[in-house]
Amino acid sequence: MGRFSTIFAVLVALLLIQTVKYCDCENSTSSCIQEEGEALLKFKHSLRNISHGLSSWKGKDCCQWKGVFCDNTGHVVELDLRGNFSSYYKPVAPEILEENSWLLKLKYLTYLDLSNHNFQGMIIPNFLGSMKSLAYLNLSYANFSGEVPYHLGNLTALQVLDLHMYDYGRGDQLYVNDVNWISNLSSLHYLDVSGVQFGGTRNLMQVLNSLPSLTHLDLHECGLNYSHIPNHPVNSTHLATLQFLDLSNNYGFSGGPIPIALRNMTSLRVLHLTGNSFESSIPDWFGNFKSLVHLYLSQNQFNSTLDSLISIFGNTCQLKTLQLPLLFHSAYELVPMDYLIAKKFQGEFPGNLPGCFGLALETLDLTGHYIGGALPYWLGELKFLKYLYLGGNAFSGSIPTSLGKLSNLRELVIKNNQLNGTIPNCLGQLLNLRVLDVSFNSLQGTFSEVFLDNLSFLKELSISHNNLTAELKTNWIPPFQLEYIEMEAIKIGTQFPQWLQTQKQLIKLDLSDASIWGVIPNWILHMHLITHMNLSYNHITGPLPENIGSSMPSMVSLLLNNNLINGSIPSSLCNRAFAIFRFFKQ
Ligand SMILES: *[C@@H]1O[C@H](CO)[C@@H](O)[C@H](O)[C@H]1NC(C)=O
Ligand SMILES: *[C@@H]1O[C@H](CO)[C@@H](O)[C@H](O)[C@H]1NC(C)=O
Ligand SMILES: *[C@@H]1O[C@H](CO)[C@@H](O)[C@H](O)[C@H]1NC(C)=O
Ligand SMILES: *[C@@H]1O[C@H](CO)[C@@H](O)[C@H](O)[C@H]1NC(C)=O
Ligand SMILES: *[C@@H]1O[C@H](CO)[C@@H](O)[C@H](O)[C@H]1NC(C)=O
Ligand SMILES: *[C@@H]1O[C@H](CO)[C@@H](O)[C@H](O)[C@H]1NC(C)=O
Ligand SMILES: *[C@@H]1O[C@H](CO)[C@@H](O)[C@H](O)[C@H]1NC(C)=O
Ligand SMILES: *[C@@H]1O[C@H](CO)[C@@H](O)[C@H](O)[C@H]1NC(C)=O
Ligand SMILES: *[C@@H]1O[C@H](CO)[C@@H](O)[C@H](O)[C@H]1NC(C)=O
Ligand SMILES: *[C@@H]1O[C@H](CO)[C@@H](O)[C@H](O)[C@H]1NC(C)=O
Ligand SMILES: *[C@@H]1O[C@H](CO)[C@@H](O)[C@H](O)[C@H]1NC(C)=O
Ligand SMILES: *[C@@H]1O[C@H](CO)[C@@H](O)[C@H](O)[C@H]1NC(C)=O
Repeated sequence: MGRFSTIFAVLVALLLIQTVKYCDCENSTSSCIQEEGEALLKFKHSLRNISHGLSSWKGKDCCQWKGVFCDNTGHVVELDLRGNFSSYYKPVAPEILEENSWLLKLKYLTYLDLSNHNFQGMIIPNFLGSMKSLAYLNLSYANFSGEVPYHLGNLTALQVLDLHMYDYGRGDQLYVNDVNWISNLSSLHYLDVSGVQFGGTRNLMQVLNSLPSLTHLDLHECGLNYSHIPNHPVNSTHLATLQFLDLSNNYGFSGGPIPIALRNMTSLRVLHLTGNSFESSIPDWFGNFKSLVHLYLSQNQFNSTLDSLISIFGNTCQLKTLQLPLLFHSAYELVPMDYLIAKKFQGEFPGNLPGCFGLALETLDLTGHYIGGALPYWLGELKFLKYLYLGGNAFSGSIPTSLGKLSNLRELVIKNNQLNGTIPNCLGQLLNLRVLDVSFNSLQGTFSEVFLDNLSFLKELSISHNNLTAELKTNWIPPFQLEYIEMEAIKIGTQFPQWLQTQKQLIKLDLSDASIWGVIPNWILHMHLITHMNLSYNHITGPLPENIGSSMPSMVSLLLNNNLINGSIPSSLCNRAFAIFRFFKQ
């Protein structure tokens, strides 16, 4: 039993062969070269235990087998043995492998995908470095560990190398001690080594700059610091054509500036700098990144003011994503990040749109800083905006009516500010809105169907903690199916709102302190999906529906305290394990 059969016993135990095509050979009429077919069959027959994943590997013509692709002279040029995540978790015994050469018989192989299988911490076999025709090698999400073999430096035809680790931050990781072999990969245009640790290697920039065609570079979570990407000028003639760079989560930059070595990379379209704990201002030379489309800056401690940041991007006309929240906006909650001492952006929005800033913007996320002042009227000019997250700041004044012009807007989150005035009726024209969250402000006035009658895609309605009075007719039939309703501490002042009866997909219902009176209607038992229900601090009377526990099997939090409910706790609630259950007066 040789090295190859063991690899593939491991592999095929988990095999899901997909037909992702790299070469254009599906209509090939030629049949398999005999020697190559035999090599594949030898491999198949040497498999221990199983071969069901390769059940189509029979018959003379290997070019017809699943995952095997030939060119029109019958040579195998592509082996696509990509697995899937569910196979990833199946346990397989790790094996130490010895050299074997059946794969080397496939001399014309240009494409090899072994990604998404669990190799159980095995080292990457050296012989891959002898497969000189390879243009595509994908070993990502495959739980390899140990040193990446320098033998891969022989693959001078390689255009795509994907070693993306599945699970970084663990002991059994891939690492590189000497990066010099990478400079031999002169055809490379796509390099993803995220999770691979670069330790004490020094000349990373020089090596990367020697790759003339590199456009995509993923160095996410590689343990990098200023010795790898220095804060001084470097020769970056070739790196100047890089289009994609991911440097996120490299904690070695903590407390320092964005390295100047990036300054000449003016072709960048995508730049990820999330989670590096940089402590500095955003450098002016970011203004030279005129091709930027997506910029991710969250989880750093930049001390720029908002107006200076925006003016830097006055000539970045294609920017679609500007993301720098200090808090995560996830699952409809604001989740504080690790470091509460983080510096925050201060300042205000500039009075006028600088240059072409924002004309292509689709996502603007400034969640959780100290930005104050008014929301400018020009926000309504950012006509491609889909996601606007301004929650957790110090904005004051009223919501500009111009927001009603943002016809592409899907999510509007302006919670936790000091906004006053009324909710402009024109927000009801945002026909694509999924999320409307204006909670925890000082908004006033009435909130009626006028806002909601056209919002047929709405999933989240959060208006809690404002001086608002809901005036929704009892026979109103909403156009939407909501998942999240938060109307805490606003005035409803009626019996349990009838229109809720139409909402069959509710996950969270918060109507606490909303002046609701009367009994809980039996139709609430149809809301089977609810996980969080808060009806506390109202004037609810009568007994609870007897089946409330059994009808709402997903419920994890139920708050009914400070009402006028009488009778006993229904037995259907007795054997339920809630994270929070409040019934009695607090
Ligand atoms: C393969 O042949 C089919 C039918 O003749 C044709 O529609 C298709 O475009 C061909 N595919 C390629 C990749 O040449
Ligand atoms: C599968 O392989 C293992 C390990 O080589 C062996 O112990 C076991 O008997 C084999 N099972 C079958 C059904 O062949
Ligand atoms: C993943 O692989 C497993 C086992 O081979 C298979 O049962 C499952 O259907 C596959 N899942 C997908 C989404 O392809
Ligand atoms: C490599 O494989 C992974 C997982 O199968 C896939 O997500 C990724 O896109 C592939 N990489 C390239 C460059 O095709
Ligand atoms: C990856 O391999 C290591 C070493 O054998 C093993 O401990 C770990 O469980 C594997 N990871 C997964 C997700 O199976
Ligand atoms: C690189 O290729 C040469 C010549 O084909 C071969 O002798 C050598 O063993 C290969 N090196 C590695 C590291 O695979
Ligand atoms: C890389 O190229 C250099 C010079 O061209 C050569 O000496 C060296 O052996 C190559 N390294 C590998 C790993 O192929
Ligand atoms: C800069 O790097 C390129 C590519 O590696 C190289 O050709 C050039 O000679 C270098 N220039 C200087 C001044 O070192
Ligand atoms: C940018 O490139 C110029 C000329 O190509 C070079 O002189 C300068 O040092 C580079 N700057 C940085 C920060 O690498
Ligand atoms: C931002 O922080 C850097 C580094 O701590 C400091 O040099 C700079 O003066 C600060 N800028 C502002 C505007 O506070
Ligand atoms: C709203 O707040 C602004 C600034 O805080 C204040 O000047 C204005 O009078 C307030 N308007 C209302 C209607 O309360
Ligand atoms: C709430 O709004 C009403 C008018 O809608 C106003 O009379 C009242 O003073 C406001 N209360 C607070 C606390 O601002």
